[in-house]
Formats: sequence, C-alpha cells, structure tokens
Amino acid sequence: MAVSSLNHKSLIVHGPILEVGTFALTLLVCADLTLIANLMMTCDSFLYILEENAYPKEHEQLKELREITVKKSVMNVPVDEAQFLSMLLKIMNAKKTMEIGVFTGYSLLGTALALPDDGQITAIDLDIEAYETGLPFIQKAGVEHKINFIQSDAFVVLNDLINGEQKSSFDFIFVDAQKEDYMKFHEKVMELVKIGGIIAYDNTLWLGSVAYKQDEYEKHSEMPESVWRNRDYVIQFNSFLASNPQIESSLLSIGDGLTLCRRLY
Ligand SMILES: C[S@@+](CC[C@H](N)C(=O)[O-])C[C@H]1O[C@@H](n2cnc3c(N)ncnc32)[C@H](O)[C@@H]1O
Repeated sequence: MAVSSLNHKSLIVHGPILEVGTFALTLLVCADLTLIANLMMTCDSFLYILEENAYPKEHEQLKELREITVKKSVMNVPVDEAQFLSMLLKIMNAKKTMEIGVFTGYSLLGTALALPDDGQITAIDLDIEAYETGLPFIQKAGVEHKINFIQSDAFVVLNDLINGEQKSSFDFIFVDAQKEDYMKFHEKVMELVKIGGIIAYDNTLWLGSVAYKQDEYEKHSEMPESVWRNRDYVIQFNSFLASNPQIESSLLSIGDGLTLCRRLY
C-alpha cells in the first residue's frame, strides 16, 4: 500500500473519490487509488490500526465487498469502525437490529456476521442496485437469512413499524443516511429502540467540519459546498443529543465520527 500523509494542508483528490481539505484529516491513498479517511489521528497511527489490527481479521467476504464498494464510492464505514460495531453488537447480545442507509452493505454484512443465527436485521435503502452489488458477498458469507432488505424511503418503513406494534422492540439501530434528516430519524427510531438499546449515528464529525468556525469558510474553501451545507444540520443534531435527557450519548472519533445513544426511558 502506498501511503500519503496529508495532514495540515488542503488536498484535492481528483476523480470521483473525495474532495477534501482539512486540518488533521488523515487520508491513505492505496495502490489502487482507493482512499480511506480517519479524523483526528496521524496517518501512521491509523495505518497501524488498519494493518496490525483491522485488516488481518477482516472477514473474507467483507474484504471482497469493500474492494468492490470503494470503486463505486467511499460511502462505507471504515474497517476499524465496522469491527467496533461488530464487537458492540456481540457484547449487547443484540438480536433484532435495523440499518437505515445500506448502500452496498458493508456495515450490514458486518452486522449480519455479528448477530446470532436467528438474528434479524431490517435493512432499508432507496438504492436497490447498490444493495444488489453487495448481495453476492452476503450470500457467500451465509448470512442472507438474517436480512430483510426493504427498498424504500426509510420514513415510510419507520412509520409502518411504529404503527405495526414494533415499538420499543429493537436492540440496535444504525443510522447512516442523509444527514439533514438525522433529527427526524431520531424522533422515529427512539420509538422503535428498546429502553437500554443503542442507536448509532454515523458521520457525526462530518469530515471534521463541525469544529470549524462559521466565519472560517475562506480558510476551508476547498471543502465541497455540500459539506458546508449539511454541516449546520450535523452541528445542531450533535448539540441536541448532548443535552437530551432521554439518552446517554458518546461521540467517538472513529471513522468520520460515530455517536452512540443509549435510550434511558
Ligand atoms: C453512507 S451510505 C450507507 C453506507 C453503509 N451504511 C455502509 O457503511 O456500507 C448512505 C445510504 O443511505 C441511503 N439513503 C439516503 N437517504 C435515504 C432515505 N431517506 N431512505 C433510505 N435510504 C436512504 C442512500 O441511498 C445511500 O445508499
């Protein structure tokens, strides 16, 4: 793997992969030009975690799926984050879970491998084509029977589940869809997760932009406009979670930021 350490400077990776400029964003550019990112860590430390801890134990089909996925887009969670979520699900003895935002199914396959044989995942995405790209790897891993994939806008499914007596029945819900709707997702998923259950929100550091000052746009002008646009939603959402008495929350600096919320009542 060829590695470029690109901290403390602007960076534009040309092509469809990513366009980013930020302080303390570590980017690793692999030999095949795929790119992985981690916030708030030196390139060497991140590489160490991947090479010495995460990659050696990555399930064969997750590896194959990741290699296919990054050619489409780097929307999947990084390997270390998937492994963290997998361990969390096992510690919790989670059996009934939901994933909002599946894409090709990297995090979904990680979850399916972590659940017991009679575990169930309600997996929702508008994009069936992306799911079908990943499906052969899920089948090869022998875990398709745990997944109920629903091609739909997630809000339709969430309302159906709430009206269909599924309230307070999920052990774990992973939200990784459009960031501007996280607040609305939260209202719904809080009705569906059990008391004591966990909701995990991905991308809550939003490429580190949540920490930028509003008047520093010029300084970070290489950051795509879409990142600036959604940044306010993520900031508002993070502050809402931090002061919400109905949950206990923790914002982890893994991947692009992962917030865990435990429903208290
Ligand atoms: C970041 S990707 C998910 C990546 C996946 N969790 C992983 O780690 O491999 C976000 C996905 O959310 C889906 N999405 C966005 N808004 C949605 C909505 N309202 N309902 C269902 N899916 C949605 C998109 O189609 C996209 O595939």
